[in-house]
Amino acid sequence: MTRKGRTVTTLITNKREATRLATAAAAPMIDAQGVVKIYSSGNVRVEALKGVSLQVQRGEILGIMGASGCGKTTLLNCLSGLDGVNDGEVYIEGANLASMNDRQKTAYRAANMGFIFQTYNLLPVLSAIENVELPLVVSGVSATRARTRAMAALERVGIAERANNWPAQLSGGQRQRVTIARALVNDPAIVWADEPTGALDSTTANDIISLMETLNREQNQTFVIVTHDPTVGARCHRRVHMSDGTIVREERN
Ligand SMILES: Nc1ncnc2c1ncn2[C@@H]1O[C@H](COP(=O)(O)OP(=O)(O)O)[C@@H](O)[C@H]1O
Ligand SMILES: [Mg+2]
Repeated sequence: MTRKGRTVTTLITNKREATRLATAAAAPMIDAQGVVKIYSSGNVRVEALKGVSLQVQRGEILGIMGASGCGKTTLLNCLSGLDGVNDGEVYIEGANLASMNDRQKTAYRAANMGFIFQTYNLLPVLSAIENVELPLVVSGVSATRARTRAMAALERVGIAERANNWPAQLSGGQRQRVTIARALVNDPAIVWADEPTGALDSTTANDIISLMETLNREQNQTFVIVTHDPTVGARCHRRVHMSDGTIVREERN
């Protein structure tokens, strides 16, 4: 192809890319329509989500609240694509996760999503910094670059001095900071958190929520936080309350 030809091709590609980006920017960050999730084992059938529809905007901190067993974790797993749905659709920035194969979904999650769980999910045989490096290694980032970025993430959450400690040598609050550093190391557009303060005392829980608020303000990341703690919920921009597999109420600060 001539040089001129290549330039034209590049322009067309860029225009397509620009259109794709504009479409993604206009779409809600998360758009769920009529999501149904059924667990069946043997002759036991649990309809954990009974047609949930929900939109989350870019930069929003959304709280998902409700009593134990109402379907919060199931909703988080279905929205993030960790789990498949029986009916309905989930779009993330306009993309339908169900249309991706497992490899594409894993790559999409590694590049765009961070996860924070109540039980930290840190690998006990890896140091704090090695745990934070993991998502980068999965995404094919070089060892040197991974180390630099993991250290920067640990600094952002205020725990750089414990980089070489194993998880067992850290307190619950410190472990959760490491988990947050790991969730943020790829600069994901969305951070999913399932009871992130569930194992922490109230002072530490407040610090962790403040940290998430700061990160949300600085990077405009979208946070979806499952919590049954009203003080955590009160600090979310918006709360949806679930009961028995449906959203029954919604409030905004
Ligand atoms: N893997 C599973 N197999 C069968 N039932 C499940 C499974 N996971 C969750 N459930 C059921 O789905 C419902 C919602 O669970 P869950 O989403 O974990 O609730 P929450 O996070 O609000 O406590 C509950 O009745 C629970 O027992
Ligand atoms: Mg749960």
